[in-house]
Amino acid sequence: MPEQNQGVWNTQRNRPDIRLGFDELNYIIKIIKEVADFDFSHYAASSFQRRVYRVLEIYPFKSVQELVNRLRTDAQFTAEFIEEVTVNTTELFRDPEFWQEIRDSVLPSLAQHRNIHIWHAGCSTGEEVYSMAITLAEAGLLDRVKITATDINETVIKTAARGHYPERLFKLYDNNYRIFGGKKELSDYYKIENGSIRMNPELLANVKFRHFNLVGGEVFSKFDLVLCRNVMIYFDKVLQDQVSKLFYSSLFKYGFLAVGSKESLIWCSVSHKFKTISNDNKIYQARV
Ligand SMILES: C[S@@+](CC[C@H](N)C(=O)[O-])C[C@H]1O[C@@H](n2cnc3c(N)ncnc32)[C@H](O)[C@@H]1O
Repeated sequence: MPEQNQGVWNTQRNRPDIRLGFDELNYIIKIIKEVADFDFSHYAASSFQRRVYRVLEIYPFKSVQELVNRLRTDAQFTAEFIEEVTVNTTELFRDPEFWQEIRDSVLPSLAQHRNIHIWHAGCSTGEEVYSMAITLAEAGLLDRVKITATDINETVIKTAARGHYPERLFKLYDNNYRIFGGKKELSDYYKIENGSIRMNPELLANVKFRHFNLVGGEVFSKFDLVLCRNVMIYFDKVLQDQVSKLFYSSLFKYGFLAVGSKESLIWCSVSHKFKTISNDNKIYQARV
């Protein structure tokens, strides 16, 4: 974990009996790199620390060494640990104003292309992908689109491809869709079976899910629109900079990049290569 993060430790301690300082976190990061080849060294220190404390709340390890021993010997646990540490929170039509902006400011420009290529980087359990598919369907563009949806976490990708969500979430999702101003009822896009909401699989007709690690990730295709929302917030500035360069290189001329509401491109080394389409909704367009 780089020097710059040393001053930002979160003081909230769920396990006051276990110290998770700079040395302990670096030790855990080193072991995960060894056993799972996953590099957390450029994740934002305070949130990484908070997530590890969360794991320590769930699993009754008595010490960091006990946690590390388990990471060394139990691949299944290591996978669960990585999933727990990489936050998966998402929603259908999360930040409805963002989706209004996509519909009103971005899609009219994309509609001029014969084929439209979209990348959801860090798609989590897929709600963002379904939101996009619905927005495109309502704009009459779904047939012309190829969507690639990626995440580091294989489990969330499976959930995304299945498109089954707990029914209890749909009050929130319905409300988001209403604020967005969708043309139909959200329930027109799903059916309810055995207490779960099942998204219409036709929405995924042009969607490909795949595993992709943004850490060290290389350009694998070109896109008209890249969405990477609420992912870089967990990265430190060095990694945010690397990833924003990757996104710039993955965009066609005048392609769009959308990040999360608490994220920004302003200070990144590629910032001058983008113009801001919406500061509130964090949508940028590559200048060339
Ligand atoms: C908070 S969710 C964001 C979901 C969605 N984009 C949204 O805004 O609602 C963050 C996602 O980023 C993924 N992620 C974290 N680190 C990653 C990495 N190095 N490469 C790819 N995805 C990563 C996590 O697995 C998680 O699914």
